[in-house]
Amino acid sequence: MALSSVARGRFITLEGPEGSGKTTAARHLGEWLAGRGIEAVLTGEPGGTTLGDEIREIVLHHRGVADDLDPRADALLFAAQRAQHVTRLIRPALARGAWVVCARYLDSSLAYQGAGYGIDLGEMRRLQAFATGGLLPDLTVLIDVPVEIGLRRKRHGKWNRFEDTAGVDFFETVRGAYRELAAAEPGRFRVVDGSGTVDEMDLAVRALVEPLLRVATA
Ligand code: TYD
Repeated sequence: MALSSVARGRFITLEGPEGSGKTTAARHLGEWLAGRGIEAVLTGEPGGTTLGDEIREIVLHHRGVADDLDPRADALLFAAQRAQHVTRLIRPALARGAWVVCARYLDSSLAYQGAGYGIDLGEMRRLQAFATGGLLPDLTVLIDVPVEIGLRRKRHGKWNRFEDTAGVDFFETVRGAYRELAAAEPGRFRVVDGSGTVDEMDLAVRALVEPLLRVATA
């Protein structure tokens, strides 16, 4: 009876603009869950599979792409890595009862390719439904941070087409889109302030995840 609910894994995604601290938050959340005896699979997009890593190289680090990439081709590349990620890694992990903590997922495509590059949001949502087979996270944490703080934090990383070719206006649009997405889906989406310390962010994320823990072990 209750067995299936005891075994059910949870799917948590972390979203936010550049340099918001998603990757750190995801890693710390994974460690915290592991400390509570939960198998936590840590992953992120673009990536998570061999194909995903190859697509990541194309969409983020291929300099030719930066100059002449059709927005729909871009959206399809992100969708392709997502389809592979969902079927090969995320769904199997959830099915065996593991929790999946994922830095960026379909909301990144809605915010960047949808709002940022102006692809119709309805079309973007249909594309996400096709790519994921309808798999939505149980919880999405938006780590919100002012654009200038986020970009300052990221300046030392590997060359990334978004950070080098998109202007501040693009990232303001992305940030605004995230906040709208969160406001439109208050059940799934929660917002955490990412402008403070890492400890503050971790505590805020845990406070949001804790209720899921109680339901999962009830
Ligand atoms: P990454 O190096 O993972 O950055 P971050 O640490 O900020 O997550 O780069 C991911 C980049 O890809 C980021 O600029 C956002 C972009 N992106 C999209 O445009 N659409 C998507 O669907 C995803 C997953 C990422």
